[in-house]
Order: sequence, then C-alpha cells, then structure tokens
Amino acid sequence: MDRALELARRGPAHGPNPRVGCVLLAGAAPDGVPGGAPDGAPARVLGEGYHRGAGTPHAEVAALADAAARGHDVRGATAVVTLEPCAHTGRTGPCAHALAEAGVAHVVHALDDPNPAAAGGAAVLRARGVRVTGGVRAAEAGELLRVWATAAGRGTPYVTLKTATSLDGRVAAADGTSRWITGPQARAHAHAVRAEVDAVAVTTGTVLADDPALTARRPDGSLAEHQPLRLVVGRRDVPGGARLRGPGGPLVHVRSHAVADLLAAAAAHEVRHLLVEGGPAFAAALLAAGAVDELHAYLAPVVLGAGPAAVGDLGVTTLAAAPRLRTARVERLGDDVLLVARRDPAPPPAAAPTEGDS
Ligand SMILES: NC(=O)c1ccc[n+]([C@@H]2O[C@H](COP(=O)([O-])OP(=O)(O)OC[C@H]3O[C@@H](n4cnc5c(N)ncnc54)[C@H](OP(=O)(O)O)[C@@H]3O)[C@@H](O)[C@H]2O)c1
Repeated sequence: MDRALELARRGPAHGPNPRVGCVLLAGAAPDGVPGGAPDGAPARVLGEGYHRGAGTPHAEVAALADAAARGHDVRGATAVVTLEPCAHTGRTGPCAHALAEAGVAHVVHALDDPNPAAAGGAAVLRARGVRVTGGVRAAEAGELLRVWATAAGRGTPYVTLKTATSLDGRVAAADGTSRWITGPQARAHAHAVRAEVDAVAVTTGTVLADDPALTARRPDGSLAEHQPLRLVVGRRDVPGGARLRGPGGPLVHVRSHAVADLLAAAAAHEVRHLLVEGGPAFAAALLAAGAVDELHAYLAPVVLGAGPAAVGDLGVTTLAAAPRLRTARVERLGDDVLLVARRDPAPPPAAAPTEGDS
C-alpha cells in the first residue's frame, strides 16, 4: 500500500477525479498478509499504475495494462489499491468488473469510495467471488484524498480561503495600497497553490480594485501548465479590458452574493477544490455560512494600524460565537509565515482492515 500511495501521488492534484495508485502482486494471501508469499519473501510485482487525470485509465486498469505489457498473468493475483475500485461507468469503464474479469483473486483497498455515484465496487467484487479487504492505511489515503473525498462526498467543492495580511490582519493600507504586503516567497507559494486547485474565486470588488489575472504563474513569470477556472462573484460587470479576460483559465461570472450560488456554479464545472482570494465581505459570508474547509493565512511582519481587515463583519459579537479552525501546519516563507488551518483536521480513525465474505 505504501507503494500504491507513492504511485497515487504522481497523479495531478487538480481535476474531478481522485489520485489513485494500484499495485498488482503475484498470488493471494494465504497467511493473511495481502499478496505476501508464505515464506515471508516480498511478493512479486506484476504491474503498477496510477490515475493521470479525468478521461485517462483508472489506476487499476493502468496496472492491468502494465502487467499485460510485462507479459504477466494476473489470474489469482492480489490488487492493492488506494481507493475502493469504482463500480460505475463514467468516462471509463468500472474497475471492479475489470479486476474480476482479469481473474484477480483478492483486492486490498485503503479508503471506501465516498462518491455515491461510484461506490459499491467492493460489493461487486465480492459478488464475483473476489476476496476484499478494506481500510488498509486508511489514514494516509484519507489525507492524500482529503480534498477530493470531502468534495465528492457532499457534492460541493472543498473551499480554501486565502488571506495575505499584515500582522494586524489588514489587507491594505488606509490609502488602499496593498502591493505587496507579503514577500516573493509567499507570493510564489500562492501561485503554486493556484496550480493545484480547480478554480480561484474573487469578488467584483477585488476585480475592480486590483485587476488580478488569477493565473498560476511559475517563479519566472510564465504560465503554469494547469490554469484554474476563474470565478468572479458579484453583480457588477467585469470590465472589458480586465486582466481576468487575458490568458489563463476560463472565466465564469456568478452574478449573485449567495455563497450557495458560487458553490453550485463551481460544482457545475466539476470543481473539487475552490480557492477563494477575497474580498473581505465575501470571506465573511463564506465563514458565516460555515463554508470554509481550510484557511491559508499568509502573515507578513508589517504592521498597518489602519486599513481594511481580511474578513469583514461576521456578525460575531462574543468570542464563543467565533468560528474557530485548527492549525494543521505552519510554514516559514522568507520573512513571512503561512498558517494552514482547517475546520476539521482530525484524520479519519485508522479503522481495522475489514474482510470480505467470500
Ligand atoms: N490581501 C488580500 O488577501 C486581499 C484579497 C482580496 C481583496 N483585497 C483587498 O480588499 C479590498 C476590498 O475588496 P473587495 O471590494 O473585493 O471586498 P468585498 O467587500 O468582499 O467585496 C464587495 C463586493 O463583492 C461583491 N459581493 C459578492 N458577494 C458578496 C457578498 N456575499 N457580500 C458582499 N459583497 C459581495 C459585491 O459586488 P457587486 O456590487 O458587484 O455585487 C460587493 O460590492 C480591495 O482593496 C482589495 O485590494 C485584499
């Protein structure tokens, strides 16, 4: 499973599909060690695969093709997969059937599929006489697939709110100047995050004030390979000459103030991970709606004393009513600090592996 997780990480972080890895091992598990040889020797790898993004073969199918290319017979083999094999036909066929058809005897997976449309692969496999063991390395797989699993499970994107502020939480000085509060390393980091998300959203207010391009750029200024969808929320028009209309991801304007409308528009474009970069009133609306899964707070050691705060009035009048996140990670970026906080960072409990019936 460690190897399968390593393979899964090679897939793209963005896109509607999860990052999944699969390793096919010779033999079933006579001694309870999946794929392990009875004498304790490492199991022979027949094939490996991972998912490279929507429309390309799933990890299981890639591993079966790899085994075939190596001339290996996979009948009686064990498939170790980071996610329960899917049971549905989307852009590609169902993996549970592909594994059963190929004669795989035992499937070991980490996470159950949270996507209602694709779940049920374990049951399909069991019905075809394949032994199934779930929950192996579930915590690690859960962390790798946290964004995707959250979004797929509830049908709306995982929302990361980004703020770049002075130490006293301000996003601009009293005269409106805001470039740049944070330093080059923090800004480069923010661009790397844009290259990993599906969409970036800002309000019309920020478009009119700052004219952002909302592109993912490399440190040399060139455009990264993946460009996020650009979402603007608010009723005013996006000016014809706005940088948002220049090179980069497609532009979608949501003429509304409702958080639900933005999330629905994003979901309609298959957005799993949405990065919101302002402004303050919309950040407050998101927090008040309980729609923020993760906060990326870039803090610069500069003090402004006046100017707009990163988050507008939330309607909180007493401390106990304030939304409180938990710190997941702190990173130093040059002179600045990035605080990554999450609504619920607790990893899923490492469930004991579950066995199939067959
Ligand atoms: N450093 C940072 O991290 C950062 C990030 C973003 C912005 N900023 C700065 O913050 C300042 C203010 O930005 P901003 O004008 O975008 O802030 P904002 O107060 O959040 O935006 C207000 C506008 O957003 C639209 N909007 C959409 N949904 C809304 C909702 N639920 N509630 C209220 N308004 C909603 C409305 O536009 P319509 O009237 O068109 O409907 C509204 O006029 C700018 O100077 C910008 O430079 C800094």
